[in-house]
Amino acid sequence: MSALSDVQGAQPSGSRTTKLAVVGAGAVGSTLAFAALTRGSARTIALHDVNRAKVEAEVLDLQHGLMFTPQAQVVGSDDVAVCAGADVVVVTAGAKQKPGQTRIDLAEATIGLMHQILPGLVDVAPDATYLMVTNPVDVVTYAALKISGLSREQLFGSGTVLDSSRLRGVLAQRCGVAVGNVHAYIAGEHGDSEIALWSSATIGGVPLLDWAPLGGRPPIDGAVRAEVHHEVVDSAYRIIAGKGATNYAVGLAGTRIIEAVLKDEGRIMPVSSLLDDYHGISDVCLSVPSLVDRRGVTDNVRVPMSDEELAGLRTSADSVRAVQKRFGF
Ligand code: LAC
Repeated sequence: MSALSDVQGAQPSGSRTTKLAVVGAGAVGSTLAFAALTRGSARTIALHDVNRAKVEAEVLDLQHGLMFTPQAQVVGSDDVAVCAGADVVVVTAGAKQKPGQTRIDLAEATIGLMHQILPGLVDVAPDATYLMVTNPVDVVTYAALKISGLSREQLFGSGTVLDSSRLRGVLAQRCGVAVGNVHAYIAGEHGDSEIALWSSATIGGVPLLDWAPLGGRPPIDGAVRAEVHHEVVDSAYRIIAGKGATNYAVGLAGTRIIEAVLKDEGRIMPVSSLLDDYHGISDVCLSVPSLVDRRGVTDNVRVPMSDEELAGLRTSADSVRAVQKRFGF
């Protein structure tokens, strides 16, 4: 097995630099590696995939752009040893969602894959923080916790960070403001049962539910909120129907989460973690606003929710838990 890990300049001896390992060199994994490289998220980016030709090609293609990026080295191999000593391991490997398929349809194949790859990863990178991106990410995160034996802080999923980005983008467009002025979360399953937390959403510090439209734009009333929610839930299906997969936004979302860990940011993000009595919800991995720092997910933030939102979150939890149980977890 050839490892490209001895390609490029070795790290200065004794330097404590950060290492990101990306497992899976498919559309999502290679895009995430590219995003991390261009953002300077980690000094070493290691790509791992069982398909040797693919991983070596992706690594070479990334290496050839190093002149244009923040200083980093890119290595890769079909040997899991290339992930050794990583600070963060992000798992993107898994079955691809086909047009018309739901993310849950991928569960059986993906859980089987997790049984195959996680023990070897934990062997070479026992102290890493693990970010699961593979879908169905909530069920996969729960299964990965059971398979790996890692703690609920150390292993978590990308959850609805991407969905929340979609929600903020659509709201920003409809309200005519910068996306950075919109604070709103999608919570629950990264999937069809996800909910929008309208009651805690703000635009420029103004509660969304009190938002007075600017520039003659229509109000964000109940009907518009329902439309926006549907647009967010439907996003992945539309993109997959058009180009076969989603990769850019999920790659960027994953990279942003990785940076919150590597830079010890203490950033509140709607990642998927094992809940323990969160508004009475336990023993299921679900996305709620959570504190992300160098240790992983260190707390879930109790965001006030309306009765409708709480009911929606509980329904989402039941939906994900039912799939967990179907696969024996
Ligand atoms: C999406 C995939 C990552 O929502 O589930 O684009």
